[in-house]
Amino acid sequence: MNTTSSRRAFLRQTALATAVVSVSPRLWGQVAGANSDIRVGVVGFGGRGGSHISAFSKMPGVRLVALCDCDEKILGAGVKKLEDQGKPVKGYRDYRELLEKGDVDVVASATPNHWHSLNVVWACQAGKDVYIEKPISHNVWEGRQAVEAARKYRRIVQSGTQSRSSRTGIAAAVEWVRAGNLGKIKVSRALCYKRRASIGKVDAPQPIPPEIDYDLWCGPAEKLPLMRKRLHYDWHWVWNTGNGDLGNQGIHEMDVARWFLGVMELSPRVLSVGGRLGYVDDGETPNTMAILHDYPGAPLIFEVRGLPSGRDSQSMDKYKGAGIGIVIECEGGHVTVPSYSSATAHDKEGRAIQTWSGEEDHYANFIKAVRSRKTEDLNADILEGHLSSALCHTGNISYRLGAKQDPGAIKEAIRADSGLAEAFDRMAEHLSANGVDLIAERATLGVPLWMDPKAERFVGNDAANALLTRAYRAPFVVPEKV
Ligand SMILES: NC(=O)c1ccc[n+]([C@@H]2O[C@H](COP(=O)([O-])OP(=O)(O)OC[C@H]3O[C@@H](n4cnc5c(N)ncnc54)[C@H](O)[C@@H]3O)[C@@H](O)[C@H]2O)c1
Repeated sequence: MNTTSSRRAFLRQTALATAVVSVSPRLWGQVAGANSDIRVGVVGFGGRGGSHISAFSKMPGVRLVALCDCDEKILGAGVKKLEDQGKPVKGYRDYRELLEKGDVDVVASATPNHWHSLNVVWACQAGKDVYIEKPISHNVWEGRQAVEAARKYRRIVQSGTQSRSSRTGIAAAVEWVRAGNLGKIKVSRALCYKRRASIGKVDAPQPIPPEIDYDLWCGPAEKLPLMRKRLHYDWHWVWNTGNGDLGNQGIHEMDVARWFLGVMELSPRVLSVGGRLGYVDDGETPNTMAILHDYPGAPLIFEVRGLPSGRDSQSMDKYKGAGIGIVIECEGGHVTVPSYSSATAHDKEGRAIQTWSGEEDHYANFIKAVRSRKTEDLNADILEGHLSSALCHTGNISYRLGAKQDPGAIKEAIRADSGLAEAFDRMAEHLSANGVDLIAERATLGVPLWMDPKAERFVGNDAANALLTRAYRAPFVVPEKV
């Protein structure tokens, strides 16, 4: 089938499916899955999707029936492995075909970021529930469209931010802090100190491996020559497909930092500083960053460090016990969240006074909500995923519109934002320990951006607003009207 006719068939199917999903919740039980097995299709399983496959193929009352990947090698190996385990599934190269013919109730997607929102919108239109990996979007606008689609078609859509399922751990700590047990929050600080080495440098376009359908792989993104060694995974470090480590590992910590603050909208002002420093390679996204989200209650400050704690070191820096985590600084002490499933409160003297831990299975929580048809049963509803993903995107937009500056000029420009200024000073020390001289190899000072959080649009900055969305490559277009 060529692209146009398969698209036409897809739209026909979508119209049909839309008719199906508008039945009442009571009738839904007769449609699919409520009283029988829930049929799952996993999309994109080069890395993280393997965890989706293993979770859903073992879960009682759930049947993994389809796999989809546009890399034939990965697809073939995945289908064969399940066949060998006596759990045969159908394989699809094209996601639209899976939605048309896959007989699935649910899709679980671990495709690259640039596909996520379209994965959600198309699935909702086709009447499927969705487990979507983080970040749930590649830009702010499409994330909101994904939320709209979930609501319009009354689908259950879970974000892959699994810390939200740490109910007796992080959720309990959030509740404890919000009840005022440590006084007011002064700063919600998120840290992503995670080693990211150079991805190497090529000087000519690289061949696309023959097993990959590159048109499908690119989807909504620009179909550019491959200017890096590895197609898979390293897409995180180019803007066309990725969101840097802020939108990779960092979205987990951004989400928890926002959760503690209890804010359900984007920040009214954002300002970033950073750079891709310490090596020259084919990546574009910063490996070192500090971001201020200036919420009126308390600022959210995010720090990314991809370099180790020193030039010859294998270890990473820590801040108050967290390296990849969150530190909530309050009037009466602080709470450290060092993992996806635990938190410890400390008094003003730094003594541990309470610890929380424990997690539910995030996939099982999703399936529970698929059965109950209640969005409230989800630990990480798509709206939460959208807001936290969008905070990563707006942080990146401030950075992308910025310019390289001397450290003195940066310090002067951010002096009034004391939290950001303090984070920049520590960043400069960290870089110096890695032999990075900020006078020679300058960092980028982002532009301050003001946002109208209700509209999710920046105020008075057209260049920034342009980066809230993208030029979609037909037919892989996130629709204006979902
Ligand atoms: N929740 C978590 O803890 C967690 C952990 C790791 C990754 N992730 C997320 O999972 C996603 C995937 O990450 P990864 O490390 O597995 O990346 P990856 O590049 O290793 O794998 C992506 C897979 O998707 C496939 N793919 C690309 N376009 C496709 C399409 N149109 N249809 C079907 N398959 C397609 C690729 O061929 C590849 O096999 C990312 O968005 C990442 O942020 C989440």
